[in-house]
Amino acid sequence: MANEKQFTRSEVMKNDDKDTMMFILHDKVYNVHSFLNEHPGGEEILLDHRGTDASEDFDDVGHSNDAMELMKKYQVGVLVESDKTNQLPKKGWVARYNSKEGEKYIRGPGVPFYLLVGGIVLGAAIIFYAL
Ligand code: HEM
Repeated sequence: MANEKQFTRSEVMKNDDKDTMMFILHDKVYNVHSFLNEHPGGEEILLDHRGTDASEDFDDVGHSNDAMELMKKYQVGVLVESDKTNQLPKKGWVARYNSKEGEKYIRGPGVPFYLLVGGIVLGAAIIFYAL
């Protein structure tokens, strides 16, 4: 589980340390300082969102499941309870990322799913040849 250090919005806003490049995404706090050069969307857009709540813009862009996995590495904490918006993301990606359902989605369907599909195909084949 990611580090649950708590930040206030103003702490994130003020981050002007040369080793930090923080922003908020859906009540979680990220430090992407070491990721700036690697961000496929470019360094500039991350710098533009320094210290802000980038949730809305981030949702508008849309990010892949790989990006969601990668994000976990850069989460440094969460907002204090009183500063949280508790707003669900527009496009549902964080909902998937946060929930148990989401983990299933990221990992893909489990074994019972393949057994079910296999069973249906086998059943259909048996019926087809029996008739
Ligand atoms: C920890 C935070 C972030 C991570 C790990 C991350 C990761 C990525 C990755 C892996 C991609 C490649 C496309 C994909 O796989 O979806 C991407 C693209 C992009 N990201 Fe981020 N990103 C982060 C934050 C942000 C933020 C805050 C913004 C600002 C709105 C942003 C804007 C973009 C844009 C504009 C693209 C290019 C989309 C395109 O070319 O279609 N990203 N990001």
